[in-house]
Amino acid sequence: MMWYRSELGISVTELIKQGLARMVYDEEDIKKRVKELADEISSHYTADDQLVMIGLLKGSAIFMADLVRQMSIPVEMEYLKASSYKGTMSTGKVRFSCMPEQPWNRNVIIVEDIIDSGLTITATLERIRAYRPKSLEVCTLLDKNLSDVSAKYVGFNAPNDFLIGYGLDHNDRYRHLPYIASI
Ligand code: IMP
Ligand code: MG
Repeated sequence: MMWYRSELGISVTELIKQGLARMVYDEEDIKKRVKELADEISSHYTADDQLVMIGLLKGSAIFMADLVRQMSIPVEMEYLKASSYKGTMSTGKVRFSCMPEQPWNRNVIIVEDIIDSGLTITATLERIRAYRPKSLEVCTLLDKNLSDVSAKYVGFNAPNDFLIGYGLDHNDRYRHLPYIASI
């Protein structure tokens, strides 16, 4: 991890040490909350429900991988790429690629890393709803609570900062960090 350098030439871990970045959720916080979410979701479905989780790439890949491994019911995994972000400013448009072929007539949970303006998740829900799934819910690790989108499963109510780590990126960097920090 230490080899990954920021623009300032030092690692994010070092930036946190120097008080230039702030640790928001550490590895333990995330692990504990992911397990709670997995238990909650597992209690709402049975093995016969044919649950499909659709992860929004790339941000939710790490979260979804940890989440499904803590669940006590079988789950199928699909991915969808929805892009709306450039740097720290939203471009305001959502483009979709790699649409899943299988999940229709299934119970679906869309898995997102973070809900900010709500644009991405709103567009994704609209897109998936058109396929008439048996049921459709949203699970997001983080919600900045800036939109009127209400996700059924929320990991943390996040501060309105720019967050990196555990899947969240800044220009495709820092996704690999095992914690979430604010920069
Ligand atoms: P929304 O469409 O404004 O709700 O933004 C959702 C998407 O923007 C997420 O899937 C993230 O990829 C990205 N995003 C929003 N806030 C952050 C942040 O604080 N850090 C990194 N990515 C973010
Ligand atoms: Mg994203």
